Amino acid sequence: MNKIFAKDIKEGLSQFPKQIPSKYFYDERGSSLFSEIMKQPEYYLTNAELEIFQLKSKEIIEQLKVRKDTPFELIELGAGDGYKTIEFLKVLEKEQYQYDYIPIDISQKALDQIKSTVANQLPETTIYPKKGDYFEILHDLKKSSHPKVLFFLGSNIGNMKDELANTFLKRLAENLSKGDQLLLGVDLMKSKSIIYPAYNDSKGITSAFNLNLLERINREFDANFDLLKFKHCPEYDEELGIAKSAIQSMDKQSVEIKALDFIVHFEAGEMVYTEISRKYSNSILDKICSGTEWEIKGKLTDHRGYFADYILEI
Ligand code: AVJ
Repeated sequence: MNKIFAKDIKEGLSQFPKQIPSKYFYDERGSSLFSEIMKQPEYYLTNAELEIFQLKSKEIIEQLKVRKDTPFELIELGAGDGYKTIEFLKVLEKEQYQYDYIPIDISQKALDQIKSTVANQLPETTIYPKKGDYFEILHDLKKSSHPKVLFFLGSNIGNMKDELANTFLKRLAENLSKGDQLLLGVDLMKSKSIIYPAYNDSKGITSAFNLNLLERINREFDANFDLLKFKHCPEYDEELGIAKSAIQSMDKQSVEIKALDFIVHFEAGEMVYTEISRKYSNSILDKICSGTEWEIKGKLTDHRGYFADYILEI
């Protein structure tokens, strides 16, 4: 049994309001559902960022202050399949920059996939995939004297509350050196009519992605969540720029999680919060950088201005 998962579930479902950390979405089924989400027309984030890499990689390279005569390391946090980054690497390779690509992920399957894509499409690129904790790996990599460019894409930072994002940026800086840079991909604040459907797609994939958390608990902890008695319930607060995913209990009910020797009671209409997806603006990014060593140096957006890749430097 995954003891930390067990503890997080027990704690999260004992709180009011109930919550489950979003990192537990990504078991095998959850990861494949997330890949499906990225293909839904309503989920504009992935294509918007892909467009930035397809059309603006040269501009990113210019703004990043990397040099052809100085080898550097390009380290990607949570690389997944690396699909967007590969667009960028194609340009780096064509322009004959010298770099090592170091994708970090918790999924060995994802890393194996990137490795073979790079081998097929980028013959000049050396790749050192790393599996594990971002900070431990960065700490190890700090020994090398090469300048570093970190990629943290896809608005993954949006799953953190602002205070946590601030601490996260501080910890990244501690494991890097002066002059190192970060390309941070974030979804921008915009109207609810665009954001809400991205988290409530018409095919119900996002709903299945959320409810998979309960199925995962059924599978891993011998629980009896009845999936027909819970529903996906997204919210978007346009003022705050925060999307929240929740699972709502449709009835008053009790669920037994056998392996944890734990019974959970739900009121009719009660919510279990599963994720926040923060949307950003320049001033919010300023706020999460405040008190850190990071300075914002540049910003590239897609043609609709939905998504931005910011360039930060310490
Ligand atoms: C992978 C965290 C960026 O918040 O948009 C997609 C995850 N959740 N649909 C996001 C997600 C529901 C996604 N991130």
